[in-house]
Amino acid sequence: MAKDPGRVLIFDTTLRDGEQSPGASLNLEEKLAIAHQLARLGVDIIEAGFPFASQGDFKAVQRIADQVGGEDGPIICGLARASKSDIKACGEAISPAPRKRIHTFIATSDIHLKHKLRKSRSDVLQIVPEMVSYARSFSEDVEFSCEDAARSDPNFLYQIIQSAISSGASTINIPDTVGYTTPTEFGQLIAGINKNVPNIDEAVLSVHGHNDLGLAVANFLEAVKNGARQMECTVNGIGERAGNAALEELVMALHVRRRYFNTFLGKEMNSPTPLTAIRTEEITKTSRLVSNLTGMVVQPNKAIVGANAFAHESGIHQDGVLKNRLTYEIVDAKTVGLSDNRISLGKLSGRSAVRARLEDLGYDLTREDLNDAFARFKDLADRKREITDRDLEAIVSEQVMQPEARFQLKLVQVSCGTALKPTATVTIEDQEGQEQTTVALGTGPVDAVCKALKSLTNEQNELIEFSVKSVTEGIDALGEVTIRLRRNGQIFSGHSSDTDVVVASAQAYINALNRLVSSDQNFALHPQYDVVNGNL
Ligand code: KIV
Ligand code: ZN
Repeated sequence: MAKDPGRVLIFDTTLRDGEQSPGASLNLEEKLAIAHQLARLGVDIIEAGFPFASQGDFKAVQRIADQVGGEDGPIICGLARASKSDIKACGEAISPAPRKRIHTFIATSDIHLKHKLRKSRSDVLQIVPEMVSYARSFSEDVEFSCEDAARSDPNFLYQIIQSAISSGASTINIPDTVGYTTPTEFGQLIAGINKNVPNIDEAVLSVHGHNDLGLAVANFLEAVKNGARQMECTVNGIGERAGNAALEELVMALHVRRRYFNTFLGKEMNSPTPLTAIRTEEITKTSRLVSNLTGMVVQPNKAIVGANAFAHESGIHQDGVLKNRLTYEIVDAKTVGLSDNRISLGKLSGRSAVRARLEDLGYDLTREDLNDAFARFKDLADRKREITDRDLEAIVSEQVMQPEARFQLKLVQVSCGTALKPTATVTIEDQEGQEQTTVALGTGPVDAVCKALKSLTNEQNELIEFSVKSVTEGIDALGEVTIRLRRNGQIFSGHSSDTDVVVASAQAYINALNRLVSSDQNFALHPQYDVVNGNL
C-alpha cells in the first residue's frame, strides 16, 4: 500500500485478535456479515483470521477474500506464524482477494525467546528474513510483527526490523502484546525505530496493543504523534484478556481532535482532510453488529458506543445541552450514526420492509435466513406493538445465520411461585429428528430449565455466566439472555431474546451448547500460545 504520511491506516483485527476473546467465536456467516460491514465502515485492511488454525478458519478467510475484498475495497489479510506451513496456508486462503496481505510474526522479547520459543536472538535473526521472503512468494504485500515488541530490547528490534524490510516487508508492526507500555514510553519506542532503522522509510510503521492497563488507545495516539501510520484495532475493543485498542475510540479521537493531531502528520493545523478513511456514521451500526454476533456486551459507559455515551441524564446537563449542545457534548451523536432510534416497523410491515431494514443494519441474509427472520418478526409483532432496530437485531443475531444445529428446543414449560418448587419440562430434538423430554427441579425456573437441558444433552460443561437485560424499554420488551458455558478451559457463549425470559434462557443455553459441540469438530490452534514445531 502506498505510503501517505498524512493518513493513518485502520487495520481491523476484530475477526482475528477480537475473535480470540474467550467465548467470542463466530461462524462463517457471522464472519462474512462483519467483514462486509467493516468494508462499509471504510477500514483499510481486514485481518480476517489465522488460516492455519483450522479448516473453519481457512475457509472463513478464503470466503472473505473472495467476497469482501475488491479492487477498491479493503486489503484482506491473514495471520501466519513465522513458519512455512502457516505462511503457505495463509497465502492460499487470501489468494482470491485482488488486494491481499500476509501478516507474519515472531516474538522478539527475551522473555518470549527463552520461555516460549526456546530460541536465541541469532535464531530469530535468521528466521525473519527467510520467512518474510517466503511470504513474499505468495503476496507482494507482507507485514511483519515483532511480538512483545514493547518488552523487547530496542537495539535488537532495530536489527530485526531492518532485516524484515530488506527481505520485502512493507509494513512493520510494533505490538504491545501484554498491554504493558505507557504512552510516553511507546511514543519513544516508535521515535527510536524511526531514527535508528536505516531503511524505515521503505515501510509503514504500525502499532498493535492490548488494554491490560487501560492504556491501549492513549499509547497508539502517542505512537501516531511519533510517526506510526497504521493502527491495529478491534470494534468495541474486544480481544484477548482486557481486549485490543478500540477502533471507534481511536478514530473519533483523531476526528474530534483533528486540529491537535494535524501538525504531527505534517499538515496545516486547520486542514479539514480527515486523518482516517473511516465513515464515522457507520460506527454505531458496526459496534452493534459485532456485539450481537460475538455476544460481547458493550459496557454502558464505554466511550463512543456505550448506551450512556450520549445520554444526558442529570438535569443540569440537559439544561445546558438544550441551550447549546457544545456545553457538554464534544461529539454529535449523528456523527457516529446514532439516529433517534427509528420506530420503523410493526404488525403490518411486510417482508421487503423487514429485509431493507435488516440490510441497513448490516444483516445481508440468504432467502432461508430471511424467511426465518420474518417469521420471528411476525411472531414478535403479535406480542409487541413497535419493533425497533434493537428488537430486530436481537431476533436475528442468534437464531438466524446459524449452521445446522445439533440440538433444537421444541418445548419449555415451567411451574414456579411462592408455594411451588420450580419445575421445568423440556423437550429437545437432535439432528436425526429424535425427540427427548425430561423434567427437572431447580432453585428457580431458569436453573430448572438449564438442569433439564444439561441432563438431556449429556454434554459436560459448567455454566459460568447467566445475564439478562431488556432490549428496549416497556413492559412488553424483549429480554435478552446471555449464557456462558465452560468446557476444558474453553468458553462458549449463547444468547437469545424473547418476551418470556425463561424461553430466552432455554434457547440461549441451547445456542451455547450447539457452539460447544460444533467446536469439538473444529479444533483450532491459537496463533500465539501454540508454538510451531520445526518446519521453519
Ligand atoms: O498481540 C500481539 O502481539 C499479536 C500479534 C500476533 C500481532 O496479536
Ligand atoms: Zn494481539
